[in-house]
Amino acid sequence: EKGGYETFMEKEIHDQPQAVQDTLLGRMDAAGTLVLDELRIDPEELKAVNKIIVLACGTSAYAGTVAKYAIEHWCRIPVEVELSHEFRYRDPIIDPNTLVVSISQSGETMDTLMAVRYAKEQGARTVSICNTNGSTIPRESDAVLYTHAGPEIAVASTKAFLAQITAAYLLGLYLAQLNKKLFSGQIKDILADLHAIPGKIQEILDDKEQVKELARSMADTSSVLFLGRNVGYPVAMEGALKLKELAYIHAEGFAAGELKHGPIALIDDGQAVFVVMPSPMDRHSLHAKVVSNIQEVRARGARTFVVAERGDQAVRSHAEVVIEVPETQPMLMPLLTTVPLQIFALELASAKGYDVDQPRNLAKSVTVE
Ligand code: F6R
Repeated sequence: EKGGYETFMEKEIHDQPQAVQDTLLGRMDAAGTLVLDELRIDPEELKAVNKIIVLACGTSAYAGTVAKYAIEHWCRIPVEVELSHEFRYRDPIIDPNTLVVSISQSGETMDTLMAVRYAKEQGARTVSICNTNGSTIPRESDAVLYTHAGPEIAVASTKAFLAQITAAYLLGLYLAQLNKKLFSGQIKDILADLHAIPGKIQEILDDKEQVKELARSMADTSSVLFLGRNVGYPVAMEGALKLKELAYIHAEGFAAGELKHGPIALIDDGQAVFVVMPSPMDRHSLHAKVVSNIQEVRARGARTFVVAERGDQAVRSHAEVVIEVPETQPMLMPLLTTVPLQIFALELASAKGYDVDQPRNLAKSVTVE
């Protein structure tokens, strides 16, 4: 059942090309138009949406943050991402033109279920992005967009995360198509790049020895920081969460721009810092800003491990270690940059002898508040 792998987590990391491919499957017609049949909300109602609130917890909330960057960029609709348990208890402003998108692997997370119920009561339309057929959250939502990652057994989420991000991109592109915010040629280009992602994830998996070796060499590390910007920011948060959960190491993810507003005080000799590089093609020139961050932390003694695109020559002379991923368009990078961080956490936890499928104190589905 573990498909020849030692742990479910390792298997599920290797299932990711398939998880993304299956989530894309059957969602386009012959003409290349996106068809989301499951999204049974009147298209006129969807066109009237003027605010989106994404509700989720943990890793699923990081998928939601990626969704925010993509949907705002493609659709020009404001998107808020909120932890389900915070949302419910703060008088949120919701009306019938608010679309609430919940993201949950299990579909049973109590905090998210209660938040969705609350949003419905307030009159919002609700869409669930979910990996578990027939679970409670999709049943109670107006519509569902299933991720097709297959059952996720390991407690820490991996393949469901990439499938959630994929589904969120599809939702964003669908809304952009409906509202004519992107030309059909632009949507086709993005979809073509999405369809190329599974092969690129496979390349990362086929070339993972460098990350595994790095992880094994760091088994005695007591703290690791992760920096990222834009869509790399939730990836940094996810890298940190995986390390906490699996290897019980203190880890923190930051938006790289926050560094000088405080976290840089943490840097001293030997501090390990992962950096998720923005694309050199990023239209806001974030690349150069993150290179400066690398210089700033290195000057204070940090060890820097940088996840960057293969063609990113500019970062090479600045980083101690460069972990390459294949190229894609800036918005889609999380589907690639996340993978080395998952492998790193898995390998480090295994090197410490921990049970990666059943980390201490955690449950796969959190059905209590
Ligand atoms: C992290 C992890 C958790 C879940 C969170 C939400 O590896 O698995 O943070 O992402 O508990 O669970 P779902 O997606 O089932 O609502």
